[in-house]
Amino acid sequence: MILRKALIYLRILNYGSLNLDYVYSVDHIVLPGETISSLNLDAFCGGKGLNQSIALARAGAAVCHAGAIGADGDCLIKALEENGVDARYVWASPSRSGNAIIQVAADGQNSIVLFGGANQANERWRIDDIFENFQKGDWALFQNEVSLLDEMIEKASFSGLKIALNPSPYNSLVEKCDLSKVALFFINELEGRQLTGEQSPEAIMDSMRIRFSHAAVVLTLGADGSLYSDPRESFRQDAFKVNAVDTTAAGDAFTGYFLAGVSSGKPSSRAMLEAAAAASIAVSRQGASDSIPTLLEVEEKLLKNTRI
Ligand code: RIB
Repeated sequence: MILRKALIYLRILNYGSLNLDYVYSVDHIVLPGETISSLNLDAFCGGKGLNQSIALARAGAAVCHAGAIGADGDCLIKALEENGVDARYVWASPSRSGNAIIQVAADGQNSIVLFGGANQANERWRIDDIFENFQKGDWALFQNEVSLLDEMIEKASFSGLKIALNPSPYNSLVEKCDLSKVALFFINELEGRQLTGEQSPEAIMDSMRIRFSHAAVVLTLGADGSLYSDPRESFRQDAFKVNAVDTTAAGDAFTGYFLAGVSSGKPSSRAMLEAAAAASIAVSRQGASDSIPTLLEVEEKLLKNTRI
């Protein structure tokens, strides 16, 4: 039997993207000028925002999702609600929903082309209205797939929320943001290089520590594990060895699980362990949000691993 300590989850507002993912299974990622046939085509609910909300909810957090969909996006709201995400701040925009063309190669690696659609239709008044419903101490989570990210960070900070940022995909819009307001960064190696100009994971972490001295940083390194650092501690978390089928949303699973863990008062070492286990389960399955495990599956994996 798994004993659960009573955990208090703070409210989390995830203001992020919602995408219809069209996933093409291919032998290899198509090369410039090349035409290839896909072996299969699937459609899933995705978007870094939606995936991270579902990961948070499956990890047990109380999460509200804010963002925009088009007339073709009812299934995205349904996916949030079926997973226990509060979707009252998702609204319908005249644009079509965001979508992603995803190639998944035989080795599980992917490549993604995004169409922003409704995710790029944010309006200032909506941001102001939505943040009125949250208070000091709540968390705000953002990625870089929606418009007005810089304004959202300002608003969240003004309202006293703790800000977690996954600056993905990294581009010049991230540099427009006041990153000194961020309490928790989730970056992968590429984003770490773009943010700091450093190459090795250790140098990236050192540079982040100097530049954002108050913040906690999670650096994910795929099969090489992940690094964690805050003003009090720094450590490495190994990845779990699995047969990778589809790496889409593995980072989102990691982000959701880690934030759910720390926001409920778990030590960062435990939150990193659970996040690594969740990501490893996600890569062993196909799809984006569909591949993210429940907390029970994560706990079972951890139990199985201690027994080995
Ligand atoms: O992180 C994976 C996600 O990135 C996909 O679901 C896709 O929609 C893109 O946003």
